[in-house]
Amino acid sequence: MARILSGIKPTGRLTLGNYIGALKNFKNFQDSGETFIFVADLHALTLPIEPEFLRTNTRDIVAFYLAAGLDPEKCTLFRQSQVSQHAELAIILQNYLYMGELNRMTQFKEKSQNMNQNAIGLGLFAYPVLMAADILLYDANIVPVGEDQTQHVEITRDLVKRFNNRYGEVLIMPEARINKVGKRIMSLSNPTVKMSKSDPKGDVFLLDDLKVIRKKIMSAVTDSGSEIIYDDENKPGISNLLTIYAALKEISISDAEALFIDARYGDFKKAVADLVVAELGAFQARYYAIINSSQVEDVLNAGEKKARQIAQGVLHRVQKAVGLL
Ligand code: AMP
Ligand code: TRP
Repeated sequence: MARILSGIKPTGRLTLGNYIGALKNFKNFQDSGETFIFVADLHALTLPIEPEFLRTNTRDIVAFYLAAGLDPEKCTLFRQSQVSQHAELAIILQNYLYMGELNRMTQFKEKSQNMNQNAIGLGLFAYPVLMAADILLYDANIVPVGEDQTQHVEITRDLVKRFNNRYGEVLIMPEARINKVGKRIMSLSNPTVKMSKSDPKGDVFLLDDLKVIRKKIMSAVTDSGSEIIYDDENKPGISNLLTIYAALKEISISDAEALFIDARYGDFKKAVADLVVAELGAFQARYYAIINSSQVEDVLNAGEKKARQIAQGVLHRVQKAVGLL
């Protein structure tokens, strides 16, 4: 049976992009294999973050996982920091990734370019080392991620080759899995940039008031012309809304196009807004019920116990291979 693993960093308010690219996608995996989904709280420390913000966000993400339909009976939910084997494995693996290749990571370049070059944290630079440890610690075969994270899975694959060449078949080769529709949801106010946690106008946040969500979608930037067709280059706004619609409905882009063949922009936007509001409305109701109960703590207690057990077995295997045991 396939092992599936993924995580989200608790660094800010999650968006509709995270929902489509990660949360909703994870749920579709839990029936197809043994699934491990965690909160990458150690990774959150790679950029400055307030302790209280980190704490609240971490708890929120677990509630989001549950509200999105992840079932703790089917998948193991945990916090990265509470399974100390992640840190232990990362310390070993750091010796098999090279500074040259880490220096070429797009995410590192983006996040560090405007920083004082003498004050870039080692953790930010070594981000992919810890991420490799996250993946390899569970012998994961499949890693569902958004497009922006595939480079980190690629470097993990390079590490596995290098490590196994030296020590034999110790680590399992993982593979990134990007969802077909919705791998990159764009900002509603500027559809040429990714919807990220930092643009209040163009982002739909998962806990936004439903009226605000509707308004953001109705005022999304669209393109000239009147046809509702997918054309990334010439119609990025309409293409983005089509993607959101298709991803939420779980249909193909061409099926979505067919539904709006005679529609006008306004009607189309209203249909997208109705769909997003219905989906996030139900999601929010589940979230508020969960966040006000002890469910998060209960789920983490059970999940972390199980995660530690599996992680310890793999860590032991690696420790033996390199000669620590
Ligand atoms: P992050 O917000 O960077 O921690 O990302 C958490 C997960 O959501 C990762 O798997 C990302 O690839 C995914 N993700 C983030 N933003 C988007 C977006 N705009 N569209 C699709 N997926 C996204
Ligand atoms: N880096 C991922 C992100 O920003 C989060 C993450 C950390 C992750 N470790 C992982 C994702 C391991 C998949 C597998 O979204």
